[in-house]
Amino acid sequence: MAIKIAEESATALPDYGRVPIAFLVRSRFRVDVVHHGLGGLRLVEEHVDPYLKDYDGEGEGPSHWQGRWDIAHWGVLSAFEGSKRVGGAVIAWRTPGVTMLKGRDDLATLWDLRVHPDNRGAGVGHRLFARALAWARDRECRLFQVETQNINVPACRFYTRQGCELGAINRHAYGEASDEAQLLWYKGL
Ligand SMILES: CC(C)(COP(=O)(O)OP(=O)(O)OC[C@H]1O[C@@H](n2cnc3c(N)ncnc32)[C@H](O)[C@@H]1OP(=O)(O)O)[C@@H](O)C(=O)NCCC(=O)NCCS
Repeated sequence: MAIKIAEESATALPDYGRVPIAFLVRSRFRVDVVHHGLGGLRLVEEHVDPYLKDYDGEGEGPSHWQGRWDIAHWGVLSAFEGSKRVGGAVIAWRTPGVTMLKGRDDLATLWDLRVHPDNRGAGVGHRLFARALAWARDRECRLFQVETQNINVPACRFYTRQGCELGAINRHAYGEASDEAQLLWYKGL
């Protein structure tokens, strides 16, 4: 059945959040620091004992966003196969307090992207990403930013397939207790 992408209002976020975002971590990119960084940072894929990562499981799910942020300038895109919700993308733009937006009106960030596990690998993520780029272009953004982590190797591969380039690696973004590194991907619009 054909996939349709629709823009929704923030009231859809609780339903949006019913699409699971969890995925199995089977490998990660180890960050090697070459010559104290003078030689750059190198990502080396290595296997890990598999575990489930669920971004929603950390009190951060879609139904919490409206209470924490002013989401007046956010875009909510949802993918449907018939009447079944199979995925979604949320774009954050012009949002006070979201430091990664740097107060820039020409920068939009992909806040969330999820495809139902039954529908992954079938092009839904690509369709959502393309619509998210168009959403940002319509608002005259010049740069599209995506945050992920070194433990989300599938998403990193997906973003490179969408034409993104790695712009930053921050090994300290999540505090010293975390063994995850922040990876920021960018695509010019
Ligand atoms: C990451 C995610 C959104 C991708 O959506 P998807 O619908 O599975 O991806 P698509 O089928 O549209 O794939 C598009 C391209 O990315 C590639 N890709 C997708 N998943 C991949 C993976 N696990 N490994 C390698 N490449 C992958 C596809 O091969 C395809 O490449 P092509 O253009 O050469 O055909 C989806 O897997 C998901 O929901 N993951 C869990 C949630 C998550 O990690 N969200 C991102 C948080 S930062």
